[in-house]
Amino acid sequence: MSATQLKSKSRYYVTTTNPALSPRPKIFEEFSLDGRVGVVSGANRGLGLEMALALCEAGCKTVYCVDLPKLPSAEWEATGRFVKGLGNGSHLEYVCADVRDQQNLWDKVEQMADKEGRMDVCIAAAGVLKAPHDCLNYPAEEFREVMDVNASGVLFTAQAAGRQMVKFKRPGSIILIASMSGSITNRVSSLSRDIDHAWVSYNTSKSAVLQMARSMACELGPLGICVNTLSPGYIYTKLTGAFLDKQPHLLDKWSSMNPMGRLGRPDELRGVIAWLASDASSFCTGSDILVSGGHLSW
Ligand SMILES: NC(=O)c1ccc[n+]([C@@H]2O[C@H](COP(=O)([O-])OP(=O)(O)OC[C@H]3O[C@@H](n4cnc5c(N)ncnc54)[C@H](O)[C@@H]3O)[C@@H](O)[C@H]2O)c1
Repeated sequence: MSATQLKSKSRYYVTTTNPALSPRPKIFEEFSLDGRVGVVSGANRGLGLEMALALCEAGCKTVYCVDLPKLPSAEWEATGRFVKGLGNGSHLEYVCADVRDQQNLWDKVEQMADKEGRMDVCIAAAGVLKAPHDCLNYPAEEFREVMDVNASGVLFTAQAAGRQMVKFKRPGSIILIASMSGSITNRVSSLSRDIDHAWVSYNTSKSAVLQMARSMACELGPLGICVNTLSPGYIYTKLTGAFLDKQPHLLDKWSSMNPMGRLGRPDELRGVIAWLASDASSFCTGSDILVSGGHLSW
């Protein structure tokens, strides 16, 4: 590509050098996912379901929600009805699959892509957080279980969608859900190490996801497939609720650890998801986007 071709991409340049073209805003068109197809793991509830909804609102025709239960939750059913009511032709489909089963996931995502004739967006949001254990005594089986879902399962999900993007020779966006815990360690209070944030398996798995995205981004960049991570801070869902509901003092502790003084809401990730999934982020790959209320800023 020549320097002139690059320059001609600028809308300012196009409209000022061709008086026949009148300026008009294009920014929201760049965020449109009109007619695209997505797959989101862990989308029976929580952040995954909120992200699937965001893809539908941005115009995806079908978003496949992959999760463990045979039948979707009431929350998923209600979200599905809301999406139908949008009237933009978008809909959610539920698919029962375990992200740890590589071949089954590849097969299921291939069936989705064959039915739709494309696969454009993948969000790997399935994840688990187990009870804390002192790192020096962390049980082997539990460490493997967390790595299996949070690291291997994320890779298998990204592979499943990426293979279809390549097969259909289309550019695509793969978004891996990491965590701020991949970059920092949630503060352990020295007095209550065993009941607090001794999450060595979770933190390790999320760090793996950050490097997985960079590594995949480098291999898939030449094929037009972007791979990025989204790293949320503390957000109230069933995953964090398992801790907050049993230890209410954690709400104040977690809130006080970012400059905004509160936890985030699942809907506060929608904007970043819409941006990363769309053409508005077409030169963004291998990046980690932190949405943590500034948790890492002090
Ligand atoms: N909630 C937070 O504060 C927070 C912060 C940072 C990162 N995250 C990450 O965001 C993602 C979503 O978390 P959430 O808070 O919505 O949790 P959640 O527990 O509400 O949702 C996780 C979903 O993943 C599914 N899942 C688990 N194992 C699976 C498997 N083997 N196969 C398929 N699906 C499986 C679960 O059934 C569940 O529906 C996770 O990767 C989590 O680590 C969450």
